[in-house]
Amino acid sequence: MHKTISGPKGLPISGNLLSFRRNPLQFIQMAAKEHGDVVLFRFGPKRKVYLLTDPDQIKEVLVTKQASFRKAKGLQVAKAVVGDGILTSEGNKHLRQRRLMQPAFHRERIAAYGDVMVRQAASLMADWKDGEVRDIHQDMMKVTLAIITETMFGKSVKENADEIRHAIDVGLKYVANKASSFIDIPLSVPTRNNRRFLESNELLDKVIYSLIDERRRSGDTGRGDLLGMLLAARDEDDGTGMTDEQVRDEVMTIFVAGHETTANTMSWIFYLLSRHTEAEQKLHAELAAVLGDRLPTVADIPHLTYANLIVSETLRLYPAAWMINREAIEEVEIGGHTYQPGDTLMMSQYAMHRDERFYDDPEAFMPERFATDLLKRIPAFAYFPFGGGPRVCIGNNFALMEAALLLATIAQRFRLRLAEPNQVVAPEPLVTLRPKNGLPMRLEMRR
Ligand code: HEM
Repeated sequence: MHKTISGPKGLPISGNLLSFRRNPLQFIQMAAKEHGDVVLFRFGPKRKVYLLTDPDQIKEVLVTKQASFRKAKGLQVAKAVVGDGILTSEGNKHLRQRRLMQPAFHRERIAAYGDVMVRQAASLMADWKDGEVRDIHQDMMKVTLAIITETMFGKSVKENADEIRHAIDVGLKYVANKASSFIDIPLSVPTRNNRRFLESNELLDKVIYSLIDERRRSGDTGRGDLLGMLLAARDEDDGTGMTDEQVRDEVMTIFVAGHETTANTMSWIFYLLSRHTEAEQKLHAELAAVLGDRLPTVADIPHLTYANLIVSETLRLYPAAWMINREAIEEVEIGGHTYQPGDTLMMSQYAMHRDERFYDDPEAFMPERFATDLLKRIPAFAYFPFGGGPRVCIGNNFALMEAALLLATIAQRFRLRLAEPNQVVAPEPLVTLRPKNGLPMRLEMRR
């Protein structure tokens, strides 16, 4: 069976690349509307890139026929920071690492991190003053980084935690800049950014390797922090663990994958609540009923029903991971079309989550829509904020727990309002979907 696939007309050489880069979110939504479930883009003279917007075809790529694909090249820049951790590795290496790490992310294991999350949120607010305007996105980046640093290393890096957080920040910014930049300057060229990046990488390596060494020698388990769990992990088949280098790569992977995504989600939550005060009031009523005056704990999360609906609906409208790409490594048939090795397939959470075939009034913020059996009625891959298949986000439970606890802790004490009341904050689709130009908000203390 053969189907002809069409796509938007592009320029003679660059094809659709410039239109895509100018406004990717709008471009893919328009293209899907016009050309249907599979759209062909041309990025440069040779590259064929397809956008899939049929949930069943997305499932085939990510789950049923995932062995015919690998992660697309865009992710390679991340290797400068994360090496060969589970985000970037492929095939058997990925499978083994994923098996080793999975237990550390089980719901019961990560429940122990709830206290860290709430304490770090409270400590962030210690600096907040009633009436003050702050860039809430910066604050969310700060608190999620503090949380991942403490859950990773426990108390063992207390003295140089600031230094480590700064080094990680430099590393992440380097990857984000490189991924979105048109010019590729190799690391060997001593530009200011390259030098800063190499310095921060060296510092992180020093800290991580010395912690690994110390723990290995003393047998200290770090009382259940993530580093301790990575060091203790053993392969079920052959009983071997990870090398120091592998642990280092996985530590950096978790920092990269588990920091900005959650920060963005929090920023979008507070943005949406500031524009939907009826939802905010419902949340406040729930917090009062479930928590009264006390801080939340992990045990409260199942009872914070409305807070959880807000998180789900925010991940629908502003999925921090807005697009997943795969490259075919062999000839493979999906939905009646045969793809060739090297073809790239794009699947966008942003486009699917706003598709009116699956969502009524898709642009509206309505947390209640998730209170029904919506997820049972729509195809699995019409809502996939955490991806799917063997490469589904390993931190999904961690992220959902963190989002609910940060939301509850912060909303108990503060109402956040846009500094410019009618400001529309645009999403900027870089590696993750972040608020363009940050999120300046005014703090209103509730109690
Ligand atoms: C709201 C927050 C988050 C979102 C929306 C998100 C989304 C995603 C998505 C869509 C993928 C799959 C990418 C692909 O298939 O190409 C992924 C992978 C991954 N995520 Fe998350 N993530 C979040 C938070 C976290 C957190 C908190 C951690 C760690 C603590 C984490 C660690 C990872 C790792 C290690 C991978 C790679 C898994 C693999 O390839 O085996 N993520 N994430």
